[in-house]
Amino acid sequence: MASRSLDARIVNAKVPAPPIQANEENLLAGAKVYKENCAVCHGLPDQPPPAIADSMYPNATLMFKGKGVSDDPPQESYWKAANGIRLTGMPSFKGILTDTQLWQAAQLVASTDKLPDSVKKALALNHRRPR
Ligand code: HEC
Repeated sequence: MASRSLDARIVNAKVPAPPIQANEENLLAGAKVYKENCAVCHGLPDQPPPAIADSMYPNATLMFKGKGVSDDPPQESYWKAANGIRLTGMPSFKGILTDTQLWQAAQLVASTDKLPDSVKKALALNHRRPR
């Protein structure tokens, strides 16, 4: 539910083409970054949505429900993860994640509709369960 001004800022930021490919190695790395930093709000495949996803307004997009953000270019998700989204629960991960990790997470959320089995397994493995 990005606003027009947010879209304009992303376009103006001229985010470069992804410096890493959406290959298995980077998607596996992205799955690790995602599980540790994003899943708490954005959810995991075949899991009930996180309770807090619903308590934020706007709600945190469920990345594994429907198409998630797989219809957005990875550049857009990279920008949002790096800068956060003002006036929402979406934090900025600049300084928390390296640029490579940001791109790996961005490639992962852009590829949720076409993940290799190894990456699906990695996402399912040992994730944090609610106590
Ligand atoms: C504390 C909760 C929280 C965490 C952790 C979090 N997000 Fe978000 N995120 C949100 C919320 C809330 C929104 C919805 C903002 C909106 O709709 O404008 C959002 C929106 C997004 C969007 C845009 C979704 C859309 O529908 O356009 C992307 C992409 C995104 N987050 C990626 C990430 C990534 C990658 C990570 C981990 C590195 C992450 N987020 C971690 C809460 C979170």
